[in-house]
Amino acid sequence: MSSIEEALRSGAQAIADQTDNPQLEAQLLLAFTLEKERAYLYGWPEQALTDLQQSRFLNLLERRQAGEPLAYLTGYKEFWSLPLNITPDVLIPRPETEQLVQLALDLLPQEQCLVADLGTGSGAIALALASERPQWQLTAIDQSSAALQVAEENSRLLGLTTQIEFRLGSWCDPLSSPQHAIISNPPYIAADDPHLHQHGLSFEPASALASGADGLDDIRQISETANACLQADGLLLLEHGYQQQSEVISILKSSGYREIRGYRDDQGQDRFVVASCST
Ligand SMILES: C[S@@+](CC[C@H](N)C(=O)[O-])C[C@H]1O[C@@H](n2cnc3c(N)ncnc32)[C@H](O)[C@@H]1O
Repeated sequence: MSSIEEALRSGAQAIADQTDNPQLEAQLLLAFTLEKERAYLYGWPEQALTDLQQSRFLNLLERRQAGEPLAYLTGYKEFWSLPLNITPDVLIPRPETEQLVQLALDLLPQEQCLVADLGTGSGAIALALASERPQWQLTAIDQSSAALQVAEENSRLLGLTTQIEFRLGSWCDPLSSPQHAIISNPPYIAADDPHLHQHGLSFEPASALASGADGLDDIRQISETANACLQADGLLLLEHGYQQQSEVISILKSSGYREIRGYRDDQGQDRFVVASCST
């Protein structure tokens, strides 16, 4: 029977090809297996694993070796310092999306605002905004009822239920009143992009990733419909693929938006566009 220390050493070796940080991931998987904080592993390196713990840990390592993302194995991902429950029904929130949240916080007034998060997934964007702006009222929309359940559960766990209304439907369809801002990280990968079948992406819901032949079908739909759901001077904030910015800007121009501006993420990649409603 192996000890915590031995399990961590062999676990890190087993998943070394899948991650840049095998030690940390082995620790997170073992802590998850033992239902303990990671610090416990440092405190009790010689503790022996039971047979059940050992077989659970081995099973997680095998799934990680097969490319399954850590967040689906542990059911957990941090976004904007918020602990989020994650299931395979939702996209694993990415760090660059935190910068979309920051853009919204920088560009919108702090006082009462109506803001819609289209394609909320785990609820990441809506929850981050609600946690920062107690006066905002958010509508979180997704066409996946399974995703919406995860988002609602996250809002309950974080005590952010009163500020967010969750609605099932396609993009702007469920919106009934004009918004100060509409924010979205929609699917934007081309349907035949080989990356969809590689790495961890193949484990994530295709409906959260792929969007037609050029990856822009959903951005076109949002751009066509969001204008009518925004207040005068309301803002549309979109995340997009790093090679899509000029196309996204032309889509928004042809839909009549004004003051269209592109932004880069922390890696220096073109990643976001913000535009004002045409009216
Ligand atoms: C890229 S994921 C973003 C999830 C989350 N906002 C985030 O940033 O982590 C896109 C989300 O859009 C949802 N979606 C796809 N098509 C949609 C549609 N027509 N209407 C509403 N949501 C849609 C998917 O279910 C998925 O949750």
